Amino acid sequence: MSFINFLKKLKIYIQKIPRLFRVFIILFIFPLIVKFVVLPAFSGQPITITVLINALEAAQWQPLVEEFQQQHPNIRLQIIEGPNATDQVEDLYTSSFLLGNSPYDLVYMDIIWTPKFAAAGWLLDLSDRLSSEELDQFLQGDVRGGMYQEKLYRIPFRSDAGMLYYRQDLLEQAGYDPPETFAELIRISQDLQQQNLADWGYVWQGRQYEGLAAMFVEILRGSGAFWINPKTLEVGLDLPEAINGVDFLVSTITKGISPPGVTTYGEDETRRLFQSGRAVFLRNWPYVFALASDSPVAGKFNIKPMVHAPGESSGACQGGWGLGIASTSQHPEEAWQVIQFLSSEETQRKYTLITGYVPSRRSLFNDPEIVAKYSHYPQLLEVIENSALRPPIAQYAQASDILQRYLSAALTQRMSSEQAMKAAAEETRRLLSVNSQQSSVSRF
Ligand code: GLC
Repeated sequence: MSFINFLKKLKIYIQKIPRLFRVFIILFIFPLIVKFVVLPAFSGQPITITVLINALEAAQWQPLVEEFQQQHPNIRLQIIEGPNATDQVEDLYTSSFLLGNSPYDLVYMDIIWTPKFAAAGWLLDLSDRLSSEELDQFLQGDVRGGMYQEKLYRIPFRSDAGMLYYRQDLLEQAGYDPPETFAELIRISQDLQQQNLADWGYVWQGRQYEGLAAMFVEILRGSGAFWINPKTLEVGLDLPEAINGVDFLVSTITKGISPPGVTTYGEDETRRLFQSGRAVFLRNWPYVFALASDSPVAGKFNIKPMVHAPGESSGACQGGWGLGIASTSQHPEEAWQVIQFLSSEETQRKYTLITGYVPSRRSLFNDPEIVAKYSHYPQLLEVIENSALRPPIAQYAQASDILQRYLSAALTQRMSSEQAMKAAAEETRRLLSVNSQQSSVSRF
């Protein structure tokens, strides 16, 4: 058909459309087609989706970004590198949203940020984006951590749970089973240190930062105490069991089981010490498994759920990272395409195989390719499914700051465990009562 014939036919079709509808198309539909289809196509400019992530993961995301770009040439995924500590990344997102001109379309979120960011109105509600069958494919704790007031704001990407690493070779050599209780961990450590099998018994995150709060949630659970009940806002930090938990940590320092510098260590300092072969036990996240498997302790260590008080059970702190869409984003549909790509089973499998980070999709824990590389994955699922959330409340950042401050005072022995926990509990109660009074007047 010639071009002239095509135009003639088009004219006949257009004449068949009722006049009123023609006016509607010209006034409303046509400008939209021009704006969203014609202009972007002719400008050749892909839409840029920006996200801020910690520097370590920014590098690890590179292969994923490249693959996404190949599949979506019309979207440019721009990664802004942030600091590695979760609190500092949170501060950067918070100030960008408070200033009202956030450059970020996507929010790569630690599990603990959801209530605050959602309550402040900084995130889009994603509840209708996934069916309940689709959501069921993710680990429950990760989904719960993405919800606020029954709505979903964050789609899980990678999960995390705290656990105990131990030197299987040294324990076997000295004739010990892995410890179950706090007291057993102390006893085994002291014995192995006396036998000069290791310099240190136990290394853990004692610096005043979010990692301290995450580690302490496990001590609280294992001691039979709790931090804040999110439903009643009851505070359990001054329970005798919680004080016993702090005493356990302090005793690891005073008994010489943990190095004095432990009160300045984060995840990576403790990982390096364990990897160098100088410590028997380590509390850390699953990412250590892959890194330590390529270190002097390769093949010599194993993992297990955290130790606890007699009669209590282990708790693994639920960590993890997911993606939300900033409510100020001009391109929520393109941002959603990035989330779909990153949270897919295929991308998570690749990311886990490359980095050793834990996926948030249940099926991957028994995936043949993953299990062939990380034989501990089925075991890991058990640890992760028994995890404890840090209190999912909008005032989490302030509550965590209070706990970190007083815990640090107790660990560095500037206050007794009892004084510190009583003061932390009182200040937390004041925070929650002020906030609950305020929230009955206005919700943010
Ligand atoms: C890990 C966890 C995160 C936690 C942080 C503390 O990144 O995934 O949830 O807040 O460690 O350092």
